[in-house]
Amino acid sequence: MDDYEYGEERLLSSSKSEFDAEENILRPKTLSEYVGQEKVKQNLSVYMEAAKSRGEALDHVLLYGPPGLGKTTLAHIIANTMGTQIKLTSGPAIERSGDLAAILTNLNEGDVLFIDEIHRLNHAVEEILYSAMEDYALDIIVGKGPSARNIRFSLKQFTLIGATTRAGLLSSPLRDRFGIMCRLDMYSPEELKRIVTRSARTLGIAIEEEGAYEIARRSRGTPRIANRLLKRVRDFAGVAGSAAVTKEDARRALARMEIDELGLDETDRNLLRALITKFGGGPAGLDTLAATINEDVATIEDVYEPYLLQLGFIARTPRGRVCLKAGYDHMNMKMPESAKRQLSVFDTNEG
Ligand SMILES: Nc1ncnc2c1ncn2[C@@H]1O[C@H](COP(=O)(O)OP(=O)(O)O)[C@@H](O)[C@H]1O
Ligand SMILES: [Mg+2]
Repeated sequence: MDDYEYGEERLLSSSKSEFDAEENILRPKTLSEYVGQEKVKQNLSVYMEAAKSRGEALDHVLLYGPPGLGKTTLAHIIANTMGTQIKLTSGPAIERSGDLAAILTNLNEGDVLFIDEIHRLNHAVEEILYSAMEDYALDIIVGKGPSARNIRFSLKQFTLIGATTRAGLLSSPLRDRFGIMCRLDMYSPEELKRIVTRSARTLGIAIEEEGAYEIARRSRGTPRIANRLLKRVRDFAGVAGSAAVTKEDARRALARMEIDELGLDETDRNLLRALITKFGGGPAGLDTLAATINEDVATIEDVYEPYLLQLGFIARTPRGRVCLKAGYDHMNMKMPESAKRQLSVFDTNEG
């Protein structure tokens, strides 16, 4: 169970790593500074306004989407906007139900409890959450055997914010207890350019608009990656003696990092190559594919696949992953007729 921080050495990985020491500095503090995700922002601001005017805690919020899209940032912004404290923890960090009970009893009125990777809570711990979320109550069983009895403690009204890479990984009793569900989408290059520009200003990096755009469009729709690439590009540009990062600086640095025109790295290309050459374009089961390229399944699903799906390079079918025409084109390979026929059999729109 060590996939909590997968791929930490990798530049493109959108999970957290030591590269992100400056991540907190770069987090926007208010909804108006938070770039993109317009629908999510509009809805949340209505819900927050309404909860505030009723003098109640905000309903529980589930934030879901691939790593690095701004879930943790949004949780901080919610607490900040509601004027309450935030307590941060994660699914794997809460080992026993007693640990969660202790956290819950220490919350004050209106506080936010943020549970990252909430799909990884163990079952006994998760069960404590049901009554806590529904009735702001803690049901504890005291004693054993015939003398065991249930004691109910009441909790302060709090807001649980859960984050997960995929909402489908949550059990339905838990999912049903969230009054607000927000899916974060990948960002457009324009939005990422605004994020890169803002981060550059915060970090004191001079960058030309075209330099920022070059980074943005190769960041796989992910702010965390955009910020990380910005820092590495700055290093290359600094060594090269540039006063401000130009488009050419960005291009050269990204080429050195083996990040291609669309932001794909060697692992993405390996995946496409394996799918094409070893499995005739698919369908290939995720487990088999993962073993072939020596990656773990969760990393492929959370980090690599979302962007390849978004680009229309691959598709999920009931029988496994298939490579689409655009994927062949990107790899400069010709799609065989047999693969085309094969594809037409599947409904590739699902999943
Ligand atoms: N909408 C956004 N606007 C500006 N910066 C963002 C936005 N979303 C994410 N970021 C930046 O990306 C980094 C990663 O975001 P984070 O909230 O940690 O992602 P997640 O929790 O979804 O993995 C943060 O440092 C933050 O600066
Ligand atoms: Mg996070």
